[in-house]
Amino acid sequence: MQTAASLDRMKSSFIREILAAASDPDMISLAGGLPDEKTFPIELLKPTIAQLHNDISLFQYGPTQGYAPLVKHLNQLYQLPEHHKLLVTTGSQQGLDLIARAYMNPGDGVAMEAPSYLGAMQVFDFVQASILPIAQLADGPDLEALERCFANDKPKLFYAVPDFHNPTGVCWSLATRQAVAKLCIEYDVTLLEDAPYRPLRFSGEALPMVSSFCPDQALVLRSFSKIASPGLRIGVVSGPAQWIEPLIKVKQGADLHSNVPAQAMLLGLLEHPEFEQHIAKVCDLYHGRYQVLLKALEQLEPFGCQAQPVAGGMFVWLTLPDCDSFAFAKYLIEQGVATVPSDVFYSAEKGVSALRLNFTNATPDMLQEAVSRLAQALATR
Ligand SMILES: Cc1ncc(COP(=O)(O)O)c(C=O)c1O
Repeated sequence: MQTAASLDRMKSSFIREILAAASDPDMISLAGGLPDEKTFPIELLKPTIAQLHNDISLFQYGPTQGYAPLVKHLNQLYQLPEHHKLLVTTGSQQGLDLIARAYMNPGDGVAMEAPSYLGAMQVFDFVQASILPIAQLADGPDLEALERCFANDKPKLFYAVPDFHNPTGVCWSLATRQAVAKLCIEYDVTLLEDAPYRPLRFSGEALPMVSSFCPDQALVLRSFSKIASPGLRIGVVSGPAQWIEPLIKVKQGADLHSNVPAQAMLLGLLEHPEFEQHIAKVCDLYHGRYQVLLKALEQLEPFGCQAQPVAGGMFVWLTLPDCDSFAFAKYLIEQGVATVPSDVFYSAEKGVSALRLNFTNATPDMLQEAVSRLAQALATR
């Protein structure tokens, strides 16, 4: 059967190819965006799991907006104003998909930083939106380019990952946050702030969310994949109630509602007195691994490679001398190390040559060995 034309626009996933190669036991994978399994808060979840059977209603169909006690808890946690609303989604990825489907007609513009999160490009491609790339600088998007885009192309949305960007790890400065919010208000562009890595800060002070400077001009996506478990598949979209209602309607057609027992498990976790401590431990673990990786990457500087320091998240962006990053990543797989080449994070435009390196799911020894293999590959390619 012929697939829909919209499917042809989606990039074939190099990540899938890489993840397949990464299952080779000799391969060191810095390719996925996986949390370390040993951080999963199983002990903190156990008391809730043990109680699930006492509430049989958890196993019945539930409300589309989300499990009511969780919705109430999250409303308080995020201190949403009275006229805002939230929707519990099946991972924040579903939030992105619902927003694309509820709001984007073919040809509608969505501005996003280049490079950008592949999963966001995929959903916007699928609804045949027009992706408008904005160059990313060291502290966020190029503001002049963003204003030109807002003025000339009139995008409907600006999709942004201001805290520990995927793939670059960039964290926007306070001034950039304020300036972007101001532009969104001035040009009536909805900010779509995607914040899955925000809780994973391991140094420096947290900065206010961009949406806090333009709350009525923004939709916010949050995820529990990085601080609890991705397998639970729970994310949240919040924003002005009139913008959330259409998402609830689309979600009814997509999956009726997210998994209720998983939502009850998440609520138990959020209410556990040791949950904050758990997040701090995860950040400490990742900080240590990041430091090992950053130090090891110094040995690649003579090859013209540069690693950009980060203050949190899961990735380091390693820029390479100008090359075909795709071909280089394939060569690296032959040398026993899986990474993601920069090409996959750009839509149509030519980007910088770089690799995305994940540091959360490899031990310090593996990280060092991976960098040795990288050095070897750079010396022999
Ligand atoms: C920037 C960004 N947004 C959204 C997601 C989706 O996360 P999830 O659906 O697991 O909440 C990811 C996953 O890696 C991501 O990197």
